[in-house]
Amino acid sequence: MQQCLPPGPPMTCDYTIKSILSAEEIAARVETLATEINAYFTPTPKLIVVGLLRGSFVFIADLVRQLTLPVEVDFIEAASYGSGTQSSHEVRILKDLRTAVEGLDVLVVEDIVDTGHTLSHVLRLLATRNPGRLEVCALLSKPSRREVEIPVRWTGFEIPDEFVVGYGIDYAQRNRNLPYIGAVEFE
Ligand code: IMP
Ligand code: MG
Repeated sequence: MQQCLPPGPPMTCDYTIKSILSAEEIAARVETLATEINAYFTPTPKLIVVGLLRGSFVFIADLVRQLTLPVEVDFIEAASYGSGTQSSHEVRILKDLRTAVEGLDVLVVEDIVDTGHTLSHVLRLLATRNPGRLEVCALLSKPSRREVEIPVRWTGFEIPDEFVVGYGIDYAQRNRNLPYIGAVEFE
């Protein structure tokens, strides 16, 4: 149990974090995912690894360092959440790719698939640009929350319907820096 520090605006620190996935467990899983991704895309002239900002930044950093393919890294920022824990189901693109992906293999890297609306929107957008292979790797998935089916080829861990933070994932922009993943417990 870790106390959330420091407290302060815009919200008070009224929750604790219970570790559910240790840094070691995550590292081992990332290594396995990278091995599978390397095998799947070999051979490829170039793999465009597309991170969904901001939650995937730690995961993508660890993942790409284990990829042995010719890789480029780019980012998309899509927003569906305010600062709370409820999805609005309304997805907007705040930052688009710099890279033209036509004819190129694309791996979309996401932190969590929850309802599926964010990835569904992003995949539809990318598909209009005629990429080569278009696949998804998500670190976490909450299957019980799914509202839209998403073709996720690689999932790190399936988790129950709990709000989680750490390893890049936030609650109202906090706790992204935790090296492990924990469930938020409200008091
Ligand atoms: P979806 O569109 O409902 O699938 O939501 C996906 C996005 O919601 C993820 O990329 C996260 O940014 C956010 N999200 C979903 N569950 C959590 C959570 O437990 N903690 C933090 N962010 C979450
Ligand atoms: Mg996200």
